[in-house]
Amino acid sequence: MNNKTVFFYLGVVFFGLSRFADADVLTDISDASIGKLLRSHQITGTPEPDTPVEPFTSPVVKLGKKLFFSPDLSLSGAVSCASCHHPQTAGGDGLALPVGVIVNDHTLFGQKRLDALKGLYPDQYEELLIPRNSPTVFNASLYRENLFWDGRLQYLQEALPDAGMASPACGVGGNGRLVRLGNGYSNVRPECYEEKNLLQAQARLPMVSPFEMKGLKDAHYNHHELYEVIIQRLQSNPQWCSVFRQAFAESEAATCQEMIHIDRVTEALSRFQGHLLFIDNAFFRYVKGKGDLTPLEKRG
Ligand code: HEC
Repeated sequence: MNNKTVFFYLGVVFFGLSRFADADVLTDISDASIGKLLRSHQITGTPEPDTPVEPFTSPVVKLGKKLFFSPDLSLSGAVSCASCHHPQTAGGDGLALPVGVIVNDHTLFGQKRLDALKGLYPDQYEELLIPRNSPTVFNASLYRENLFWDGRLQYLQEALPDAGMASPACGVGGNGRLVRLGNGYSNVRPECYEEKNLLQAQARLPMVSPFEMKGLKDAHYNHHELYEVIIQRLQSNPQWCSVFRQAFAESEAATCQEMIHIDRVTEALSRFQGHLLFIDNAFFRYVKGKGDLTPLEKRG
């Protein structure tokens, strides 16, 4: 079990998802063994976000929220980030496996999204599900090393003496932190990004993932073209233009083309998600030794 898996199962407890409670793979465990497990994964109860936490009134955070809930980031307008990571379903979608662009209504999430898919394809809906669970974005800014279930989005240590770590494509250097994407399920090819943090690098990926936001029928677009289409869509909308101007304190002279680009979209998304912290809760109090959990929660 890797770090993230442990953190997820513990997280399941405080997000109140009791659907695993009856699974017979889980056994009751003592405080001593939970403590050992937490220590072995360096879970201390004093997490620090990787992204600066700003007041919710920050115009960039507000822009990030608008983008997060907007279908404009998906090619066909069928899905938004929130369709799979909705706050009402604890930053995930409350499903075992998510439903992507096939259901053409971005406002549907969770069970309603699944029901819509079942309605469309009663006999084959299972084949159309995205093959990985949608993790919560709550606390995602606390991950210090990697993102995704397989940890394939990870920081590359810049100027690492062991050059074997870096693939030749990645290189070393630059002003941002270098993030590497390894092979994954989504057909997004392995790449390197120079970004401020993991969340910003991650935010590029759903838009070009065929299962999530791109859609399978538009396979002819490469990543670069797809970002162009989405960015041009935002640039040609006066409302987006106005919120970008406000968020990045641009003068009236700046054009929509100058103000709106992919790095600003991903920056706003990451700064909004950096805000989604959920650390004042029973789980963290327990980790700090300042509270207890119920036996059921401990089993989780
Ligand atoms: C159709 C569903 C879907 C949509 C839409 C979607 N995601 Fe995800 N998201 C997933 C799945 C599935 C994963 C896990 C992928 C994996 O591990 O391979 C994921 C992973 C993530 C993670 C990593 C969390 C972690 O703990 O590692 C973040 C952050 C995230 N998504 C943010 C976003 C943002 C921002 C958007 C919009 C730009 C978005 N997602 C759109 C399904 C979705």
